[in-house]
Amino acid sequence: MNEKIKATMDRRKKIVDDAILEMIDRESSLHNKLAESMRYSLSTGGKRLRPILLMAAADSLGIDGEKFLTTAIAIEMIHTYSLIHDDLPAMDDDDYRRGQLTNHKIYGDALAILAGDALQSLAFEILTREKNAADSQKLSVIKEISHAIGMCGMVGGQAIDLDAEGKHIDLKTLKKMHLGKTGALFTAAIRSGAILANANPDQLESLTTYAKNYGLAFQITDDILDITGDESELGKPIGSDLRNLKSTYVTLTSLSEAKKLAKESSDNAIKSLENFGSEADFLRELAIFQVERKK
Ligand code: IPE
Ligand code: IPE
Ligand code: MG
Ligand code: MG
Ligand code: MG
Repeated sequence: MNEKIKATMDRRKKIVDDAILEMIDRESSLHNKLAESMRYSLSTGGKRLRPILLMAAADSLGIDGEKFLTTAIAIEMIHTYSLIHDDLPAMDDDDYRRGQLTNHKIYGDALAILAGDALQSLAFEILTREKNAADSQKLSVIKEISHAIGMCGMVGGQAIDLDAEGKHIDLKTLKKMHLGKTGALFTAAIRSGAILANANPDQLESLTTYAKNYGLAFQITDDILDITGDESELGKPIGSDLRNLKSTYVTLTSLSEAKKLAKESSDNAIKSLENFGSEADFLRELAIFQVERKK
């Protein structure tokens, strides 16, 4: 990754890290421990890729993506909620996330469920506060995100994932699961950035193709890292998928085939941007980066 892009990525991650804590600290809660557990999972970092992609999508249309920090943060809150629930004993039963104990290991299952619930609803409240958007744009963004994270997208994909434990599913179902559980939120982030930057229908379509391919490549890489990753670098346990008898691109194909498919999807993501100029270089670099990533 070139130095300028890396610097932008690091700077935006820091902007998101700071603003998300500032935001949660301004909220009042009926229950201190609940607020503490929400803050805990927001403060443990992560790559902040969804906010970064939202901003990069706006950049690609010639608008500085940092203008839409509020919307970007709301999406990161939704991602954080999904991780808290994903790690619960009833789901993947994982003890570590981003190098720290998972939310339920500290606060217990019940409060972790509630922290996820409250992060999701707070996210929607925050979406209404975006200052750099017209009401009609905010409405489109809210529709985009609510559709993407429900039964047609993220939660639907998570349901397929749990259902597929210990079973053989075909590649078509696996792709549907990955596009749902992981691709849908990436797609919503990128489309939201595009909507806020007033994309025309052709631009929105190209960015949607980018997003779906990015999301697929991202989750295939996540499957690969569950086998080949370094636990201390990854910050979450490796071998979690094997322990849970998950269906992944590695178990259904092979490590080398999975790597090939991730690269193919990343190349397709880049190809979808052929009508964009250098403003889309950040998106191009992000697609390359995410198949090479080690965490
Ligand atoms: C992990 O997402 C969950 C998946 C959808 C695979 P990330 O790898 O983006 O997690 P963080 O936010 O960087 O920890
Ligand atoms: C998680 O997928 C997807 C969501 C949280 C919606 P994984 O279960 O593969 O993610 P990790 O590997 O725990 O981060
Ligand atoms: Mg999971
Ligand atoms: Mg998991
Ligand atoms: Mg995984």
